[in-house]
Formats: sequence, structure tokens, C-alpha cells
Amino acid sequence: MKIGILGSGNMGRSLGLRWAENGHPLFFGSRDIDQAKSVADFVGNGAVGGTLEDAARFGDVLVHTARAVPLSEMISDVSLIHGKTVIDLNNRPIFDGLKFEPVTQSLTELLQADAPNTNVVKAFNMFAQELYEHDAATIASHDVSLFLAGNSREAKQQVAALASELGFTPVDAGPLENTRLVETMGDMIRYLIAGTKLGSTAALSVQVLPTSNTKRLGGRVDSKFAKHQSK
Ligand SMILES: NC(=O)c1ccc[n+]([C@@H]2O[C@H](COP(=O)([O-])OP(=O)(O)OC[C@H]3O[C@@H](n4cnc5c(N)ncnc54)[C@H](OP(=O)(O)O)[C@@H]3O)[C@@H](O)[C@H]2O)c1
Repeated sequence: MKIGILGSGNMGRSLGLRWAENGHPLFFGSRDIDQAKSVADFVGNGAVGGTLEDAARFGDVLVHTARAVPLSEMISDVSLIHGKTVIDLNNRPIFDGLKFEPVTQSLTELLQADAPNTNVVKAFNMFAQELYEHDAATIASHDVSLFLAGNSREAKQQVAALASELGFTPVDAGPLENTRLVETMGDMIRYLIAGTKLGSTAALSVQVLPTSNTKRLGGRVDSKFAKHQSK
């Protein structure tokens, strides 16, 4: 899969390096071409660096790493990215005192509204960069869930494949509006990392237990709440 990284910072470099190691052709785009080229040299494995526009043109899958910067501001010709999958791994800034507010409109929704002809998928926002140091086997041995959300089933399948090869267990968290939930999960993990001092390799894992065939608790009876409150 040809991958274009939009913004050659920490996350772009880390994920790009892992995918380049796996044989994907990588193009690092930056506002600063020298920076992009130096990241590409560091990554090796045939990775190249250049402008944001060239990265956008190159990739079948693009990775947007510039929090809250619309694609139309990064790339002068957005027709270059029509039909492409865009991974949005951004999180909101961490609020002072780790006081997170509800997400009423996600960064991903804003990105998708700005570039309606692309297929934006929220993913890779739930782990600190340090976790990607681990190889796929180590990550897989911990059954780490990677939530993804967006409206295109095909785009989510592409992103799920890129997640699986790094050892993650992709979990489809639903349509675009659920990116609000995934960003909230990003806040949660950052609270766990920084607020409870679990550290930068904290991760979440969805587990589905087998159904118990005992009925010790009396079973689920009809709720006494009004219908609209019943769940
Ligand atoms: N770091 C983590 O552990 C982590 C984990 C999960 C999610 N995230 C999220 O991932 C995103 C990136 O984080 P990061 O740690 O990689 O940050 P970073 O190292 O600062 O990289 C962000 C990149 O965005 C680009 N950028 C910034 N403003 C831009 C603009 N106006 N126009 C074009 N490009 C611009 C810059 O690329 P150039 O300078 O190359 O142009 C910059 O290198 C953030 O939203 C963050 O919340 C980070």
C-alpha cells in the first residue's frame, strides 16, 4: 500500500517507519522539504521525502498528523486526494490539569467536512508514540484493541489491515459520528498515561467473555424505567 504521511513529526515518523519496515512504499511530506528528506533518510527502506502535496499525490492511504489543520490548507489542490483514505490520528490538546471536556464535534468530523471526497478514518490516536517501539508479536501478545471509526467500510478495512500487521486487534467503532467516542477514548488513555501514571505504554483491550449458562442472578427482567430511558 503506498502511504503518504502529511507532517513529518513524531507520529508520522514512528508509524511510517514501522510500515516502511513492512515493505510499504512511504512518502514523508512536510512544510519543510529538508525535514521531510531527513526523516525519510532516517526511516530508510526506500522512503522518500518532499512536499505535502507530493505526499498527498503519492499515497493511496494518507496519514494526517497536523492536529486541526484542514486538508484544504495543507494541499492547494484537494482533487489530488479525491477517493483516498485519510487516517486521522489526532487528539485534542491535553487540557490544563487533565480536565477533558465532552467531544461534541470531533476533529475527524471537521476533517471529513473539509474534504468530503475523501474517506477519513479515525485510528491510531489511542497509543503514545512509545508503544510503537514494540514489534508486532509483542503487541499481539497483549491483545491491544485499536478502535477505528468512519463512514467508508472499504477505507476502514484498509486501515484495519495496516493496524493488524503492526500487531493490533482492530475494533470497528462505527460511523463517522462515533469518532467523538474514539477521541474520548484518546482522552481516556491519555488520562491513564499521565493522570494515573500508568506510563506511555498503557493500552486498552476489549475482551468478550463467553456467555455464562448459569442464571444465579435471576436473569434480565424488563426495566422499570420509561422506554426512552430503558437502556
Ligand atoms: N505523540 C504521541 O504520542 C501521540 C499519540 C497519539 C496521537 N497523537 C496525536 O497525533 C498528532 C501529531 O502528534 P505528534 O506527536 O506527531 O506531533 P508533532 O511531532 O508536533 O508532529 C505534528 C506535525 O504536524 C505538522 N504540522 C503542524 N502544523 C501544521 C500546519 N499548520 N500545516 C501543515 N503541517 C503542520 C508538522 O509537520 P512538518 O513540521 O513536517 O510540516 C508537525 O511535524 C497530534 O494531534 C497528537 O495529539 C500523538
